[in-house]
Amino acid sequence: MSKSKENILFCPGPVNVAQNVWQSLYNHIGHREEEFSELMARLNQRVLDMFEISHQAKYHPLIITGSGTAANETVLSSIGKNKHVLVITNGEFGERLYNISKLHNRNTQQITFNWAEMIDIAKVEKYLQKHKVDLIAMVHHETSTGMLNPVAVVGKLAKKYGVQFFVDTVSSASAEKVDIEKWNITFCSTSSGKAIGALPGIGIIIAEKNALEDLKDTPQKIMYLNLYKLYHYSKTCNQTPNTPAVHLFSALDQALGNILETGVQERRKIIAERAFVLRNGMKRLGMSFLLDEMGEAVMSSVLTTVVLPPYLSAESLKRKLKERRIVIYSGKGPLLDKVFQVANIGELTKHDLMYFLHTLEKICLEAKRDNTRDHAEASAGSSAGRFAFITSHLHLPLNRTKTHI
Ligand SMILES: Cc1ncc(COP(=O)(O)O)c(C=O)c1O
Repeated sequence: MSKSKENILFCPGPVNVAQNVWQSLYNHIGHREEEFSELMARLNQRVLDMFEISHQAKYHPLIITGSGTAANETVLSSIGKNKHVLVITNGEFGERLYNISKLHNRNTQQITFNWAEMIDIAKVEKYLQKHKVDLIAMVHHETSTGMLNPVAVVGKLAKKYGVQFFVDTVSSASAEKVDIEKWNITFCSTSSGKAIGALPGIGIIIAEKNALEDLKDTPQKIMYLNLYKLYHYSKTCNQTPNTPAVHLFSALDQALGNILETGVQERRKIIAERAFVLRNGMKRLGMSFLLDEMGEAVMSSVLTTVVLPPYLSAESLKRKLKERRIVIYSGKGPLLDKVFQVANIGELTKHDLMYFLHTLEKICLEAKRDNTRDHAEASAGSSAGRFAFITSHLHLPLNRTKTHI
């Protein structure tokens, strides 16, 4: 990546993609042709393999033209409107699941925790003991904070109380272990343009076949994101109901091929090592992380949420990094102007990581120096203030006067 003049994406999607993923776009496949059905069949197999599913006959993948939200909305709009849905939230993307479910399912309830607050399992179990719940929905990696949620434990509760379980792994699949079988996940969603390393625009669902078959007689109000319809086309003829983004399907196929060639576990190791290198480097610069006090186990390998040092604003950091071709994200919601996020997924070289750390160090040094100078000027008998007052009367530009001080 580092050789080109392109931006280096340290954001959690879209990501820089491998050269062979770009090259795979160049194809001419008609979507009702045999070649497309072959592509779909291979894609489905690769999705099952990427998720390391051992009882593959029990599950079916669905590939949807649309981003991660399309995959989430497909599940939540297709389960049947009288279903009782419980959404557990502790960040932006959990809240989005709740809002989507509320639109489609009038019996949607929420157990809310603060952003970056650990999910209290006892509270979830108490709710399940007292209320009717058909489906629990939650996010695995809450991208807005970088926190990994206890999906395995909630999955045990889902099994204990006979409840279906929907997990959004949009930003974690292929960077973190997602054990669909052991965690009793009924529906799992993810997307092409994040840790999987393909281009954005494809949503993926892996679902238990039994749960999909149960939808056959469920009245549906949705046409495009209709889960049963997608399943029916996929299982009967390896097709999609509508014209799919064929080229993006090819890119996803290649990206999954790359993961399987590297090895699914090896791939996760590579991403975790990058996070380790970046975190060590940023710690050496005196930075601290949002989840420091909660322990490394809850910090995902996908990204690091870094507390903004007092001498830097999110806006200026983003701008200065962008001037050097580096793209990061700033915090959202309650974390706005308090943190910035550095992801390490997609095609990144060791050189890219070093370039990022080196650039960040330079920006920090400059900002500290500017801050110290501003402080010194402010405390020097407010002389700059005095001059500002005088120059406003003399109609002289302030910066020129300043150079004379
Ligand atoms: C955990 C999670 N869920 C859902 C989404 C929404 O995905 P998209 O923007 O691809 O629709 C995102 C996007 O970052 C995400 O991180």
